[in-house]
Amino acid sequence: MEWVREIQPGVFVSEHPLTKTKITLMRDVNTHHREFRNLAQEVATWLAWAALYDARIKPRQVRTPLAETTGYDLDERVGLVPILRAGLGLVEGVLSVVPNATVWPVGIYRDEETLQPITYYEKLPPEMPISLGLVLDPMLATGGSAAATIALLKKRGVKRVKFLGLVGAPEGVEFVRSRFSDVEIFLAVLDDHLTPPPQKPGDPPAGYIVPGLGDAGDRLFGT
Ligand code: PRP
Ligand code: URA
Repeated sequence: MEWVREIQPGVFVSEHPLTKTKITLMRDVNTHHREFRNLAQEVATWLAWAALYDARIKPRQVRTPLAETTGYDLDERVGLVPILRAGLGLVEGVLSVVPNATVWPVGIYRDEETLQPITYYEKLPPEMPISLGLVLDPMLATGGSAAATIALLKKRGVKRVKFLGLVGAPEGVEFVRSRFSDVEIFLAVLDDHLTPPPQKPGDPPAGYIVPGLGDAGDRLFGT
């Protein structure tokens, strides 16, 4: 029973039939943003289950209606780092299964010409009180935004960082892994390629994931 596949060291992609059906609905250009938003949270919950496969737990005694037995508590201080704005679309889905996680948003957008990440909001403390940082962004395209965020966490002493995204491109996976070989990547789906620079009017902008979902922020927020 294989519901997640490690396609290369440290890169995990869903094999679960339900994530496949939900991503298909999200891809559909006719899906309304209300449904798109719900689907994003549902898939984010799956990503959280997958990414926390090695979470530390500590035993504690618990009394059931029938007997005393040994149970477990999560022994991690999990910090969610959604990349504004589209990363917000994954927060509730992860919190639904890791409710004690703290949330540390970072504002980064991609320059439309250069595709370089531009940081416009960053209030992380000099040392972050977390044992595991989960960077959240639906789209891993060139990987610039993810890598910039991971670098911020590393600078603040976070040793264990994972990236959780809905759709990745091979270019983004390669970029992040080549810079941070210890950062695991969890994706619902790995897509084919990125759009090249437009050659003629009507061509899509550069750096979009194909087939992808389009602009995840716009689709989440209906803009
Ligand atoms: C999108 C997306 C990622 C980034 C991915 O954000 O949500 O943050 O692009 O691209 P990259 O891997 O090439 O860096 P966008 O810049 O559109 O900002 P937004 O979320 O505010 O719309
Ligand atoms: N950002 C998006 O929202 N979609 C893409 O395909 C690439 C970057």
